[in-house]
Amino acid sequence: MKFDLTKLALLLTLLLINGLAQSCGGKSTEKEPGALAQPDPDHLSQEDLAWMQKGLDIIGPSQQVLGGKLKAALEAGGVQHAVQYCNIAAFPLMDSLSQTYQVKIRRTSLKARNPKDAPDAAEREMLESFTARYHAGESLDPVIRNLEGGKKGFYAPILVQEMCLKCHGIKGTDIADADYAIISDLYPKDLATEYKSGDLRGIWSLTFTP
Ligand code: HEC
Repeated sequence: MKFDLTKLALLLTLLLINGLAQSCGGKSTEKEPGALAQPDPDHLSQEDLAWMQKGLDIIGPSQQVLGGKLKAALEAGGVQHAVQYCNIAAFPLMDSLSQTYQVKIRRTSLKARNPKDAPDAAEREMLESFTARYHAGESLDPVIRNLEGGKKGFYAPILVQEMCLKCHGIKGTDIADADYAIISDLYPKDLATEYKSGDLRGIWSLTFTP
């Protein structure tokens, strides 16, 4: 009975997150390739199911806060003003989530803007696997992995939405030259441009220490 309730809660969270992703992307009728799909709870052990639920409980509100602040900042003052808001370290919510769940929260990418977000070996492997699944048109279910020292890793895709293009799209077209001047001044080693809407931008990487 308890197990069924956990499954139900997981499915509800996934439905909510899918709904959020679609409402942010604004394309609820089109099925985008690589859209966040629902992991099949029957293929997870009960323990991993609980980690999956925790991971979803963390990235759901995080994406919502991040997206909301970014959108508001873009509207209020354009890229120049918003450039500081695509940064999970900037939000107190992340600190409280890290403490509540005893978890390290990162976003990482094969093409990072901030070199601090470059992947470690385990993250690179996950990024390559998500990229392969993305190109094969397969679903991008979040993943739970056992890490060294009894830690647990949770990984979930981050997709590019229309709003992201002002800072991660094509230079000179989506990203105004004056805006890119600000970005490259702050991030001289930036690799995170030339994305299109719907592309796989990177992954959330959560490390739980049980
Ligand atoms: C106003 C400009 C701006 C917008 C809009 C923006 N970003 Fe960013 N993004 C940045 C900056 C600047 C960084 C580097 C932040 C840091 O120093 O950690 C970044 C970093 C990231 C990272 C971390 C990996 C890396 O490259 O360092 C991800 C993932 C990311 N952005 C995804 C997105 C997504 C998805 C969207 C749309 C929902 C988006 N961004 C919209 C400016 C932006």
